[in-house]
Amino acid sequence: MRKVASVTPLVASVTGMATYADVFARSIADPDGFWLQAAEAIDWITPPTRALDDSAAPIYRWFPDASLNTSANALDRHVAAGRGDRAALIWDSAMADEKRTYTYAQLLDEVARFAGVLTAQGVTKGDRVIIYMPMIPEAAIAMLACARIGAVHSVVFGGFAAPELATRIDDAQPVAVVTASGGLEPGRTVEYLPMVRDALALAASAPETVIVKDRAQVPGSAADYGWLDWDRQIAAAEPVGPVPVAATDPLYILYTSGTTGKPKGVVRDNGGHAVALVWSMRNVYGVDPDDVWWTASDVGWVVGHSYIVYGPLLLGATTIMYEGKPVGTPDAGAFWRVISEHGASALFTAPTAIRAIRKADPDAAELAKYDMSSFSTLFAAGERLDPDTFAWAGEKLGVPVVDHWWQTETGWAIVANLRGLEPMPLKPGTATVPVPGYDVQVVDAEGTRLGADAEGNIVVRLPMPPGTLAGLWQDEERFRSSYLNAFPGFYLTGDSGYIDGDGYVFILGRSDDVINVAGHRLSTGSIEAVVAAHPDVAECAVVGIHDDLKGQRPSGYVVLKSGAQIEEDQLRADLVAMVREAIGAVATFRDVTVVEALPKTRSGKILRKTMRQIVDGEEYSVPSTIEDMAVLEALVEQLGH
Ligand code: COA
Ligand code: AMP
Repeated sequence: MRKVASVTPLVASVTGMATYADVFARSIADPDGFWLQAAEAIDWITPPTRALDDSAAPIYRWFPDASLNTSANALDRHVAAGRGDRAALIWDSAMADEKRTYTYAQLLDEVARFAGVLTAQGVTKGDRVIIYMPMIPEAAIAMLACARIGAVHSVVFGGFAAPELATRIDDAQPVAVVTASGGLEPGRTVEYLPMVRDALALAASAPETVIVKDRAQVPGSAADYGWLDWDRQIAAAEPVGPVPVAATDPLYILYTSGTTGKPKGVVRDNGGHAVALVWSMRNVYGVDPDDVWWTASDVGWVVGHSYIVYGPLLLGATTIMYEGKPVGTPDAGAFWRVISEHGASALFTAPTAIRAIRKADPDAAELAKYDMSSFSTLFAAGERLDPDTFAWAGEKLGVPVVDHWWQTETGWAIVANLRGLEPMPLKPGTATVPVPGYDVQVVDAEGTRLGADAEGNIVVRLPMPPGTLAGLWQDEERFRSSYLNAFPGFYLTGDSGYIDGDGYVFILGRSDDVINVAGHRLSTGSIEAVVAAHPDVAECAVVGIHDDLKGQRPSGYVVLKSGAQIEEDQLRADLVAMVREAIGAVATFRDVTVVEALPKTRSGKILRKTMRQIVDGEEYSVPSTIEDMAVLEALVEQLGH
C-alpha cells in the first residue's frame, strides 16, 4: 500500500495553531480541497483524485475514485510503521475483574485470524454480519475482521431483546451472527444465547452461521445450540489479508431509533469515514498517536463505533474498552481509577454518567485517591450537558469539560469546541460552534433562516462532510423522507435549538418522537406499539419526561378499553414486563398512568409535546387544531404541577 505523509496543519495562526474561523471558512468555501488534504492522513490503495461526487445530489458521495481497507488503516499500517509493540486496545472489565492489553501487532493477528474464520464460513465482500456482543475485545475484533474482508457489520446493542435483534436481522439479511454467551450487568448476567435463538426463530430469513465467544461467567455455550465456538475456530484459522474496497462501499450499518417502531439502518462508507475520524481525533479532540484515549460507551452505539474502535485505532493511539458502570462497580471512583491506572489523557462519556458519579459522591472524595496527572480533557455527548453538571465536573476535575453534539447519522461531531485548533471559550449549556464541514443553520417551519437567539429547527446545508451517513440500508425513500425532503438542500437533524450572537449553538432537544434515556436513543413509537398490544389498552401515548439522573425517561399514558377491570398496579407490571421482553431492559419503562382520554388534534394526532410540557411543569402550548379542550383540562388537573 502507498504510504502518505501525515496531514499538515490547514491554516497557521500567530500562535502556531490553526484558528477555528479560518479552518471553518475554508471547509465551506472549498470542501473538495479541504477534504482531499485531510485524506492524506489515510493509506489508500488507489488514492483519491477528487473528494466530492455531487452527481446524484442531494445524495452525495466522498472519494468516488479511491479504494482502501479500513482495518489495514487501523492496524497494519501502524505495525508496518514500527509501532507494533504499542498498546492498541486496553480492555478493563470492572465486571469480570479482568484486564488485557493488545499491542497493535497482537490485535492485527487476532483480527486477521478472525477474518480467516469468517472467510472459512463463506463470508465475503458485501455480505452482512450481525455482531451482538457485550463490551469484550472480541466485539472490536469482529468489527475489524469484517472491515478486513469487506463484509458489512451491524452491531446490535446487548441491552436489546430478541424481537429488536430479529428486526435488525430481517432488515440487514446477514449471512452470520457473531455473539457471546452473555454480558455482565451489576447483580445479574445477561444470557445472550437464548435471545439469539429466539431472534433467529422470529426472523423471516435467519442465517445458519452463528459464532459464539464463550464467557466463563455466563451460562450457555456454542455446543448447547450446535453453533461454532469462537476459540476453537480462531485456533484453527488462517490469517487473511485486507481486501481493497471502494471508498464508497459500506463499512457498517448501525440501526438507530426513528419516529416509528422500525429502526433506521444508517449506512457508513469506508473512505469518508476513515478521513473524517482521523481528522476529528486530531482537530475535535486534540489527540495524538502517543495518547491513551478512553470512551466510556458501548460498541452498540455510534459513540462506541467511532471512538472506542475506529477513531483511536485509525489514528494509531491507544484505546481503552471498559466493561462496567460509572458507579457501583465497585464505587463512584471507577472512572478515576481507569484514567489513573492506564494513563488516559481524555475521557469521553455521557452526561448521565457524570450525574450518576456526582449523585453517589457529591464532594468527589473518590477522586483524591487517584493520580489524575495524565488527564487533560473530559468530553461529553449523547444528550445535553446541563450547566450544573458542566460546572460540577469542571470544578472537581480541574480540566476543560467539553460538550459536543452529534448523532448516529453523522458519525462524528456536528458542533464542538475544537480542542486541536486555537482554543475558544467554553460556555455552559452550549456545545460551542459548528465543526468544519458542517454549515449549521436554524430555520423556522417554512425553512426561513432565523437570526441570532431565535429557536427553530436545526439543519445542515448539503453536502454534509465525509463520514456522515451515506443513506439508510436499502431504503432510499426513507432516507429522503426522513432527512432531505423537509427543507430541500438541507439535512434535517431532528433537533431544535438556536445560535447565539457569538455563533455558539444551543441544542434544546428533539423536535420528533425520539427520546434520550441515559444517553440511549429510543423511539417512543416503538414503546407505544408494545403498550398498545395489551388486551386492556384502548390507546396510549408514551412521552419522554424529565429525569434528574437519566435526562429523560419514557412515561406511558394509557386509556383503558371500556369495561376493562384490571387494577393499575397489575397493568403497570404487565406493561413493564412486555416492554422489557419486546425491546429490552434498556428501554427503562417503569411509569404507567391511566387517563380518561388523550388530547388530540382534530386530525387525530396525539399532542405528545403538550403532554410532556404539562408533566414537566413547563408552560405548555395548545395548538389551535385541538379536538377537545376539556380533555386537555382534565389532564392538567390530573398530571399538572
Ligand atoms: N446489556 C443488557 N442490559 C443492559 C445493558 C447491556 N449492555 N446496558 C444496560 N442494561 C440494562 C441495565 O442492567 C438496566 O437493567 P435493570 O432495569 O434490570 O436494572 C437497564 O438496562 C437500564 O440501564 P441504564 O439506563 O443504563 O441504567 P442503570 O441504572 O443500569 O445505570 C447509569 C445508570 C447512569 C450508570 C448508566 O445509564 C450509564 O452509565 N449511562 C451512560 C450511558 C452511555 O454511556 N451511553 C452511551 C452514549 S455516549
Ligand atoms: P444518537 O444518535 O444516539 O447519538 O442520539 C443523537 C441525539 O442525541 C441527538 O439528535 C440529540 O438529540 C442528542 N444529543 C447528542 N449529543 C448531544 C449534545 N451534546 N447536546 C444535546 N443533545 C445531544
